[in-house]
Amino acid sequence: MATSSIIKILFLVFFSLAILNVSLSINDSSINVGCIESEKQALSVFKQHLFDPANRLASWVQHEDCCRRWVGVVCHNVSGHVLELHLQNPTLDDDATFAESEANMRSRLGGKIHHSLLNLTHLSYLDLSYNEFGGISIPDFFGSMLSLRHLNLSIAGFGGLIPHQLGNLSNMEYLNLDEYGLHVENLGWLAGMSRLKYLHMSTVNLRNATDWLQTLNMLPSLKELHLVNSQLPPISTHLLNPNFSSLAILNLAWNNLLNTSPIMSWVFSLKTLLSLDLSANKFEGPIPDALQNLTSLRHLDLSDNQFNSSIPDWLYGFSPLEFLNLQYNNLQGKISSAIGNMTSAISLDFSENNELGGGGIPKSLGNNLCNLKSISLGGVKLSQNISDIL
Ligand SMILES: *[C@@H]1O[C@H](CO)[C@@H](O)[C@H](O)[C@H]1NC(C)=O
Ligand SMILES: *[C@@H]1O[C@H](CO)[C@@H](O)[C@H](O)[C@H]1NC(C)=O
Ligand SMILES: *[C@@H]1O[C@H](CO)[C@@H](O)[C@H](O)[C@H]1NC(C)=O
Ligand SMILES: *[C@@H]1O[C@H](CO)[C@@H](O)[C@H](O)[C@H]1NC(C)=O
Ligand SMILES: *[C@@H]1O[C@H](CO)[C@@H](O)[C@H](O)[C@H]1NC(C)=O
Ligand SMILES: *[C@@H]1O[C@H](CO)[C@@H](O)[C@H](O)[C@H]1NC(C)=O
Ligand SMILES: *[C@@H]1O[C@H](CO)[C@@H](O)[C@H](O)[C@H]1NC(C)=O
Ligand SMILES: *[C@@H]1O[C@H](CO)[C@@H](O)[C@H](O)[C@H]1NC(C)=O
Ligand SMILES: *[C@@H]1O[C@H](CO)[C@@H](O)[C@H](O)[C@H]1NC(C)=O
Ligand SMILES: *[C@@H]1O[C@H](CO)[C@@H](O)[C@H](O)[C@H]1NC(C)=O
Ligand SMILES: *[C@@H]1O[C@H](CO)[C@@H](O)[C@H](O)[C@H]1NC(C)=O
Repeated sequence: MATSSIIKILFLVFFSLAILNVSLSINDSSINVGCIESEKQALSVFKQHLFDPANRLASWVQHEDCCRRWVGVVCHNVSGHVLELHLQNPTLDDDATFAESEANMRSRLGGKIHHSLLNLTHLSYLDLSYNEFGGISIPDFFGSMLSLRHLNLSIAGFGGLIPHQLGNLSNMEYLNLDEYGLHVENLGWLAGMSRLKYLHMSTVNLRNATDWLQTLNMLPSLKELHLVNSQLPPISTHLLNPNFSSLAILNLAWNNLLNTSPIMSWVFSLKTLLSLDLSANKFEGPIPDALQNLTSLRHLDLSDNQFNSSIPDWLYGFSPLEFLNLQYNNLQGKISSAIGNMTSAISLDFSENNELGGGGIPKSLGNNLCNLKSISLGGVKLSQNISDIL
């Protein structure tokens, strides 16, 4: 009796384990359906037209499953469609050796970009950054890869005119075209990317894009904008009902901007900004009071301009500020004891302002700024030892 019960129970246990096993393996096989043959062929043709001197794509061989074994390829776990291609050349750490950086240069992909990529109908993520395509144009057909949401062509050696067909990519959320050799006639096409959150077009020549701000104003989701050294043309003064309700990060360094640039009245109206970089422009005179309006700022870089006022009191009162860079200006006067109010400060750089700091550094700096990790005071007028303050 007891024995048969035990047998029954054991049988049940084994039976349910078996069921469990079966269902697990069904599930397993449905997750890893493997590569779709036509997409594998499309990738093979794409590879044949690439120049791959370091054989980075050695794993792309016919008898292997492109979803599981091909480096850089990510597929949908149920449908098997290729979703992502991560083909960027790795970026190097600053402390890389000469040999490492030589090897890194040699591992850059080049050659041609074959339109067989169009057969990857579900491709949403394409990263070709940091390769060396030798000045070829960005292919027009990229504008027909309508599933794309993320495109990174940063420092990949593309050149010439950016094809306006990219404006067809209405799902795009991340677009990085940071590359010295590129230019545009206008930016009107960008208006098609209404979901764009991140745009990086630093070093792209925008000199002829007089519509740049007008167009960007039609991108309501934009959170992060980098236009460093883009030769930004002046905008017409009659702008704007700013639409930039979510812009958080703005970098306009190296653009020859002046105090009088109409662009500045736009910048000062961006109340949601967390980070603003205006370094290496042509600003002069006092640090503009209008910056006070940007009450959410945590990161402010005004370095490498010609600001020559004293540090305004309101700046010390900017309590959320974590990073402040005022290096390489002509700032004057004392550093006020109100600096003790900058209680969130993590990094402060006052260096290379020859006329700043006479009278020393207030003790409140050492007493109140508990989060401070770095302060630079090289090239300012100091009359006491740092050890007396910190
Ligand atoms: C596979 O397992 C997941 C949970 O891990 C479940 O949600 C899904 O329905 C299962 N699919 C099949 C086909 O059994
Ligand atoms: C891409 O698809 C088209 C038709 O959909 C087909 O004719 C062509 O051979 C495919 N190309 C590659 C490289 O797979
Ligand atoms: C399949 O992918 C989706 C989204 O890509 C993810 O949310 C899900 O967890 C994945 N399922 C499995 C079983 O890995
Ligand atoms: C885009 O590429 C650049 C250069 O490789 C890299 O630094 C950056 O992190 C990439 N962006 C993303 C979101 O992966
Ligand atoms: C969108 O693509 C079509 C063809 O696919 C092209 O004729 C048109 O010029 C493109 N539109 C833009 C804004 O690039
Ligand atoms: C800007 O426009 C001028 C005049 O049409 C043209 O000569 C020049 O090549 C253009 N520059 C760029 C970078 O597109
Ligand atoms: C603000 O954005 C909306 C939606 O993109 C657009 O229709 C509108 O014209 C924009 N307003 C201005 C002043 O550009
Ligand atoms: C700063 O904000 C005030 C109040 O919101 C506003 O009246 C003023 O025009 C703003 N200044 C600038 C330069 O945007
Ligand atoms: C600051 O710079 C402005 C503009 O270059 C100049 O007019 C002014 O005299 C300078 N002020 C001081 C105190 O150097
Ligand atoms: C610094 O904080 C003190 C006390 O909260 C306040 O009285 C003073 O006005 C502040 N100074 C500045 C420049 O914000
Ligand atoms: C700085 O410290 C040195 C050595 O402790 C001392 O000789 C010197 O007088 C100090 N200078 C000032 C301005 O306190």
